[in-house]
Amino acid sequence: MILVTGGAGFIGANFVLDWLHASGEPVLNLDKLTYAGNLRTLKSQESNPRHVFVRADICDRATLDALFAQYNPRAVLHFAAESHVDRSIHGPAEFVQTNIVGTFTLLEAARAYWSALDAERQGAFRFLHVSTDEVFGSLSATDPQFSEATPYAPNSPYSASKAASDHLVRSYHHTYGLPTLTTNCSNNYGPYQFPEKLIPLVIANALGGRPLPVYGDGQNVRDWLYVGDHCSAIREVLALGVPGETYNIGGWNEKKNIDVVHTLCDLLDKSRPKAASSYRDQITYVKDRPGHDRRYAIDARKLERELGWKPAETFETGLAKTVDWYLDNQDWVGEVVSGDYRKWVELNYGPGGTSR
Ligand code: NAD
Ligand code: DAU
Repeated sequence: MILVTGGAGFIGANFVLDWLHASGEPVLNLDKLTYAGNLRTLKSQESNPRHVFVRADICDRATLDALFAQYNPRAVLHFAAESHVDRSIHGPAEFVQTNIVGTFTLLEAARAYWSALDAERQGAFRFLHVSTDEVFGSLSATDPQFSEATPYAPNSPYSASKAASDHLVRSYHHTYGLPTLTTNCSNNYGPYQFPEKLIPLVIANALGGRPLPVYGDGQNVRDWLYVGDHCSAIREVLALGVPGETYNIGGWNEKKNIDVVHTLCDLLDKSRPKAASSYRDQITYVKDRPGHDRRYAIDARKLERELGWKPAETFETGLAKTVDWYLDNQDWVGEVVSGDYRKWVELNYGPGGTSR
């Protein structure tokens, strides 16, 4: 079987659902169920014997050792993380704990388990670390896209903690020979994304008649990838990636934030028209995110050249699917938005918040 960490979060859960659909191989899904993890996303797998869910913290070495010993995974796919940049600005400690200490603890448990395997199983074992393009820092409008050789220059506590975890993974391959793979992906969007991130937040606020908060001048650029394409790239890297290598994953979809918000409003105007106005009227410019990176862009040619991977969705097809999914799954949004989430909205967007 494979061990997935963070498999109740946005990308991890999409990965688990796709995996169980396409493969007969069981999944051990380990997740702490923070505010970002939701078992409701995995409801369809409740009675699937190939899906084993364990609520655990990647910082808990004893539990990790016991799970490795009990389930003998042939690979670890490490998604678990604190993932929201704004939250890392308000409270970086949790990011250092989970993203750095947690990844270190998982690497130590994996190394102990892997060292005791026979030579054949050692050679086949993989530790795939899911990381981000934010470790490379910020691009100007004319800079070339990030390649695998771009030096690290993280700018937020989130990206610094992810960069630290990437370095630890690299060192475990270089020093101990652990067969690691690292992927650095651009911004994801799609079903089951927590409505703190730009695209689901805009959809939820639009439908709720609330302001659509655009940070700064709205000209920051992100490179968007449909989550299903991220999952297919990870499957490809797991199957064919060379241990010790890193792979950039992106969809060649650079968009300014304000253009993304306009497109979402236009899609909603068509699907859920308001009586006398456009959703665009709800757009509100708010104070910028501190240290806000101007532009991210991924050069994904290595993945295409060496492993033959290409995204299936364009931004237009992916975004239309995503809007439809949120319209059809308002109950999912309602259930994941807890009291804690409402406190977060008040902290980040309310009077005195960083972004107003
Ligand atoms: P998410 O915040 O939606 O989910 C994270 C999951 O990890 C949650 O289920 C949470 O409960 C779990 N978790 C958190 N701390 C844990 C701990 N200590 N032990 C066990 N589980 C814990 O995040 P996401 O957007 O799905 O991102 C998944 C991974 O992909 C992260 O490593 C992130 O850095 C990376 N990534 C995300 C994006 C993106 O656009 N969302 C892009 C590139 C890379
Ligand atoms: O690039 C990959 C990264 O993408 C991942 O590593 C992170 O886990 C993921 O959260 C995402 O980070 P961003 O900070 O780019 O995503 P977010 O959705 O928070 O913001 C996208 C852009 O929209 C960014 O420029 C900030 C802006 N924004 C965001 C929010 C939440 C707004 O203008 N208003 C908002 O309310």
